Amino acid sequence: MDWGLKNRISRIIKPEDNRAVMLAVDHGYFLGPTERLEIPRKTIRPLLKYCDSIMLTRGVLRTSVDASFPVPIVLRVSGGSSIIGADLSNEKIVTSVRDAIRLNVSALAMSIFIGAKYEHNSLVNLGNLVNEAEEYGIPVLAVTAVGKELEKRDARYLSLSCRIAAEFGAHIIKTYYCEDFEKVVSSCPVPVIIAGGPKLKEREALELTFNAINAGAVGVDMGRNIWQSDNPVPMIKAVRSIVHEHANVQQAYDLFKKLVKEPQKPLAISQKQNNKQKPTKQKK
Ligand code: R5P
Repeated sequence: MDWGLKNRISRIIKPEDNRAVMLAVDHGYFLGPTERLEIPRKTIRPLLKYCDSIMLTRGVLRTSVDASFPVPIVLRVSGGSSIIGADLSNEKIVTSVRDAIRLNVSALAMSIFIGAKYEHNSLVNLGNLVNEAEEYGIPVLAVTAVGKELEKRDARYLSLSCRIAAEFGAHIIKTYYCEDFEKVVSSCPVPVIIAGGPKLKEREALELTFNAINAGAVGVDMGRNIWQSDNPVPMIKAVRSIVHEHANVQQAYDLFKKLVKEPQKPLAISQKQNNKQKPTKQKK
């Protein structure tokens, strides 16, 4: 593996333990202002220092993340359909590798839609993106099984999706947890991380995380189960404890409950100002 590619992957999957906590906040690219991600900066800011990397679009990156904060960026570059559009699987690469380099990203992310109407296009997108990104030593994260395809969430379907993504050259695969998840991981020759999916009770989300790690996932790319929690910071810390500190479900849940009871540290003044910008008066 080329030095640059290896270096970028190590920003995402920590070499100390081969594990990853990625915070997913890219939902708006097809869902619009998702609940509790309506003001991205407000959602992202308190969580930034607890994730190893963050997955988002260039629009949210440029407007809602401080360029001086050293968090590795996983940039979503596919899109083109919305939740109310004709077919979610009809995506193209909508952000150039050139712009991704300008943004100093650590990886590019795009979706593939196995079994969907636009399966072919999404796979060709993946092959082309890997060709281009590898020129610059940038890894590609393939996202599998979003939207309708999620209904087929079983080991057979997810193994098929993940394996195909790896065969096309994806360096990391994001998928969903399912029964017999070991089969998905063992038949995929590159690291697998899991999405959290729709909001669960906190204990259940921690169980999902634990089971996935136990079955061989290197980590999570989790969104709603963190920032739709009433207590997002305790939740991401509890997820981290499973991914990086070998906590079991009970230990992680106990940590979550303990952190919920602790008084929240007030935000620094500059952060407060950023979150609550006063409207400026228009000159007549
Ligand atoms: C979907 O295409 C997006 O990539 C999301 O980032 C993904 O669904 C992960 O977020 P969540 O944990 O909320 O499912």
